[in-house]
Amino acid sequence: DWTMAEFRKTKIAEIREQVGSSRVICGLSGGVDSAVAAVLIHEAIGDQLTCVFVDHGLMRMGEAEQVVSLFRNHYNIPLVHKDVSALFLGGLAGVTDPEAKRKFIGKTFIDVFEAEAKQVGGADFLAQGTLYPDVIESVSFTGGPSVTIKSHHNVGGLPERMNMKLVEPLRELFKDEVRALGRELGLPEIFVGRHPFPGPGLAIRIPGEVTRERCDILRKADAIYLEEIRNAGLYDAIWQAFAVLLPVKTVGVMGDFRTYDSVCALRAVTSTDGMTADIYPFDAGFLSRVATRIVNEVKGINRVVYDYTSKPPGTIEWE
Ligand code: XMP
Repeated sequence: DWTMAEFRKTKIAEIREQVGSSRVICGLSGGVDSAVAAVLIHEAIGDQLTCVFVDHGLMRMGEAEQVVSLFRNHYNIPLVHKDVSALFLGGLAGVTDPEAKRKFIGKTFIDVFEAEAKQVGGADFLAQGTLYPDVIESVSFTGGPSVTIKSHHNVGGLPERMNMKLVEPLRELFKDEVRALGRELGLPEIFVGRHPFPGPGLAIRIPGEVTRERCDILRKADAIYLEEIRNAGLYDAIWQAFAVLLPVKTVGVMGDFRTYDSVCALRAVTSTDGMTADIYPFDAGFLSRVATRIVNEVKGINRVVYDYTSKPPGTIEWE
């Protein structure tokens, strides 16, 4: 892609000019934006960059491992991997209110990141994968500018608090352009084409109390659903697809036995920016195949339902 090849060259020169010989810290979220920003900056300034991955243990199946292996093995970029799942799950114990979950996760994330950044030491710059829509839409994520529908998890106040300057090489780009740049930089397709994932992770896809066990159950169901979507060739036609583990148990029957287990809801939407969304109209055969696999393969789930709500009036995530 000629445009992205040009963009890459221009940005590399700009980053070098801005940063000089200073050190830069970049927080990785596991998502496309921060990964592309980090790889681009590393190309510009090499080991003046340190990446910090605060691993809250609320990622999808295999994702934390993928981030670590991409940076350490594929790109050889210095990476601090901070596994703080115990801290996050401990703090989430007994928390059921969606906003309380979001606030706890946002605050804890910033605390951990800040402490790690201090450990790295001596960095004047903080790198972020901010995109153009984040720049123009920095008010509220869910659309209603006058009401906060969900506290958005990001690192908003961090640079001032840490007294650091920002490096934001993706500020002019839209999501599809970031994906094109990621491909230009050689990021694997599985990373570049990945559906968006919310900062608070699986915690907001487990209404009610979040436990390690429920995270594991949800991860398995979600992985089966995504695998079937990829196999059906539908992944790229969908903006986001994910499973939600409900705090509701229902009665079922497996062989000759009564079961009493959780309900799993499946969500899939099309969208261009996440502000509005339509449900993805799977055919019945697809949905029943996924439901059968999840109930047969995931211990703890005995019923699967499909969410038919568009946004508005529903939001994409359940919390
Ligand atoms: P909702 O649920 O508000 O989600 O319709 C709209 C889009 O935003 C994502 N989302 C988040 N992304 N931090 C993020 O980085 C968050 O706290 C957050 N909450 C929701 C959601 O996945 C969807 O793409």
